[in-house]
Amino acid sequence: MSDIKILAIETSCDETAAAVIEEVGGRPVVLSNVISSQVDLHAITGGVVPEVASRAHMEKIIPVIQESLENAHYPLPITHSNGQMNKDQLMKNEKREMKNCQHLLAGITHLAVTSGPGLIGSLLVGFNTAKALAYGLDLPIIPINHIEGHIYSAMGGKLINNQDTITRKNTITNTQKSINNLDIDNCDLDINCKLEIGTWKFPLISLTVSGGHTSLTLMKDHGVYETIGETLDDAVGEAYDKVAKLLNLGYPGGPVVSKFANEFRNKLSIFNFQFPKNSQQSNNQFENKKINGEMSKMENEKLQSPIVLPRPLLHDGTFNFSFSGLKTAVLYAVKKILSENSWESTDEIPENIKENICFEFEEAVADVLSSKLKKAIEKYSPKAVVFAGGVSANGYLKERLRGVVSGIDPEDNIKFLTPGKNMSGDNAAMIGLAAYYHIKRGDVKKWDQIHVDSGAELTS
Ligand code: KG4
Ligand code: ZN
Repeated sequence: MSDIKILAIETSCDETAAAVIEEVGGRPVVLSNVISSQVDLHAITGGVVPEVASRAHMEKIIPVIQESLENAHYPLPITHSNGQMNKDQLMKNEKREMKNCQHLLAGITHLAVTSGPGLIGSLLVGFNTAKALAYGLDLPIIPINHIEGHIYSAMGGKLINNQDTITRKNTITNTQKSINNLDIDNCDLDINCKLEIGTWKFPLISLTVSGGHTSLTLMKDHGVYETIGETLDDAVGEAYDKVAKLLNLGYPGGPVVSKFANEFRNKLSIFNFQFPKNSQQSNNQFENKKINGEMSKMENEKLQSPIVLPRPLLHDGTFNFSFSGLKTAVLYAVKKILSENSWESTDEIPENIKENICFEFEEAVADVLSSKLKKAIEKYSPKAVVFAGGVSANGYLKERLRGVVSGIDPEDNIKFLTPGKNMSGDNAAMIGLAAYYHIKRGDVKKWDQIHVDSGAELTS
């Protein structure tokens, strides 16, 4: 039996998540990573309603824990190309139905749980469940800061062992993977596939961007953090969600705003405004052409941007962010477009104009994030840069920020690390990975020594 087998639980916002992480050969391996998303519930209101979120966590927490324990116990059967499962696996699968929770919990050595920051009603569901399990099983427990978890999500790519399960609309969808190519399947990026735990070098800078957080963290070692900058108002993901709501594009806003922005970007590239991959100047080519009046009549007609958006706090000399003014600037731009065209609602705005707005918004976000990251790298000379949090799923932002790193370090000495698939949004595997390093340095607690804190800061 392994000395470390962690059951990790995360419920800080709108995903009910549980994962099992085991130490194998001196390394943490993710055995299961189950996420029950509430996205469909919150799509109805266009944002997370805290009361609705906590109630949904209450409903899902036990089934999600059970699913994650079962997945860790019995890897999903591999389906052959002819659609048949092999006999042994089929039998194991049948036995799986019969196992009770005592059996599944045997072998768990530690509990880990998100203790903040987050929505208090959501946090409490996971926190008290984990606390009760720690009490009942007489096991140590590790409270984990949610931002710390996101930072550790960037080491998940190589390590996911067997399976993820994502639950949507009460339907459990298993992502089946062959044991042999799991690592590859779970990686969004080549760099993650090559990532070995041992290659994590410090100091490291993490840009963590999600629906609730935007922060720059200097991590000097496992467990040694200094927050060097954070948002003074809205988080980046929140701004994406609000822009989407303004344009009536649905919830969550990030993926759809990003899709619209990409549509516009693709149109620009038809006119040869190629965005240099390794440049942080991105649309400067487009802007310069506009300013110098070099655009052809056709380019002008098709691509003239109706809006110019601010880059808040770009030159304020700090590592802080502010996105509420940017969101308001989008609101005023939309109002102007409506009144100039005598349209009554955003539904009347043609799709190409919405794409243009999303593009301008995403460019402003990318410029600010790139500029702050560049200055942080110049000041702190990190050996690795992590881009994590729900917004890090954004391919364009990922490329822009990767470009910042390679622009400063063409020799590729500074590693650029982002989470793999199913690890950028909220999940419990990242909480378990962070907990693993707490355990390794003896930082574990008893159930009666831990506290939940919805406004927790990431400190050492
Ligand atoms: O980390 P996360 O799942 O939850 C929080 O801790 O907040 O992040 C959710 C946020 C949402 O605001 C969502 O719109 C945003 O991440 N997001 C994206 C993308 N995918 C998700 N933002 C920009 N581009 C994306 N592709
Ligand atoms: Zn998060």
